[in-house]
Amino acid sequence: AHPWQGIIAEYAEHLPIAPGDPVVTLGEGGTPLVEAPALSERVGGTVYLKVEGANPTGSFKDRGMTMAVSKVAAEGGATLVCASTGNTSASAAAYAAKAGMPCAVVLPAGKIAAGKLAQAIVHGATLVSLEGNFDDGLRVVRELASRPDVALVNSVNPYRLQGQKTAAFEVVDTLGDAPTIHCLPVGNAGNISAYWMGYREYAALGKASRTPIMWGVQAEGAAPFVKGEPVENPETIATAIRIGNPASWDLAVAAREESGGRIDSVSDAQILDAQALIAREVGVFVEPASAASVAGLLARAQHGQVPPGATIVCTVTGNGLKDTATALGDTVIDPVTVPPTAPAVAEAIGLA
Ligand code: F0G
Repeated sequence: AHPWQGIIAEYAEHLPIAPGDPVVTLGEGGTPLVEAPALSERVGGTVYLKVEGANPTGSFKDRGMTMAVSKVAAEGGATLVCASTGNTSASAAAYAAKAGMPCAVVLPAGKIAAGKLAQAIVHGATLVSLEGNFDDGLRVVRELASRPDVALVNSVNPYRLQGQKTAAFEVVDTLGDAPTIHCLPVGNAGNISAYWMGYREYAALGKASRTPIMWGVQAEGAAPFVKGEPVENPETIATAIRIGNPASWDLAVAAREESGGRIDSVSDAQILDAQALIAREVGVFVEPASAASVAGLLARAQHGQVPPGATIVCTVTGNGLKDTATALGDTVIDPVTVPPTAPAVAEAIGLA
């Protein structure tokens, strides 16, 4: 056992980084793989959650951001720029702060969860509110990225996927082999591509005996892979995956085909049900987009498509604290108010 040093130090031999290169890290990675008996029971296999909300800024983006920003540092620095549904911008803003670089984030107006917006603000990024959706934002920042003083840190930056593939390494290192099935939400499709790369690399090195079947899950109103073509006006309560024209299209299709997997969609209601179930019966608070992976798994199980005895890992990509408004919905927070005495509290909680 040793103190976790961040994914670059931990997995340097598998990453495009040389000894002596600058490393911009916040200690990302090393996230919990939590067994979820409440899900195993329902699914008929053994289900684990890879809890990526435990990363420094509360999402899996930090794994990619440490690689991308370290590479910018090696080149002497630049203004970090991204389009984002919220988590990439939170991560970029934090790593920019650590690196001492400026950061600007382009955000679809009115569609970013409050916690994520707060993160970009407190870390000192410049916010640009776009009259358009994520897909519009990505088109715009890709155009800006031709400037030499700008570094694009969206997942079209290949270093992002390199960093993110380490989550697959961690799963194998913890379980001792690849799972039967790996289930995760799909938005811009970088993460499913990154996991597939990580699993293939570990299998090629003999560190895993197999690669998993990859199951991607989209939100019904933002499901271009299910439709087979881009969606013009994506809509879902899971704003993190409100994306209609995924950049890593070909890589994600390759992950699906080569793994014998599938990419399905679930409704917003299924997402919210899964979020509540994970919170109440597993003890992990995830954001709506993250719950899509579990919602998709539960739906597949109901259709009898989970092989008996399978080991299933669901990545829960982001922390529930980022978007408390959606989790609470129309819940009124109105606890009973009591005087500061033990009997009064005992009565309030129904103890005799
Ligand atoms: N889950 C969460 C919580 C996300 O923030 C994202 C993407 C995804 C899943 C989907 O991952 O895009 O690699 O398929 N969020 C990006 C952002 C788009 O800007 O934060 P993907």
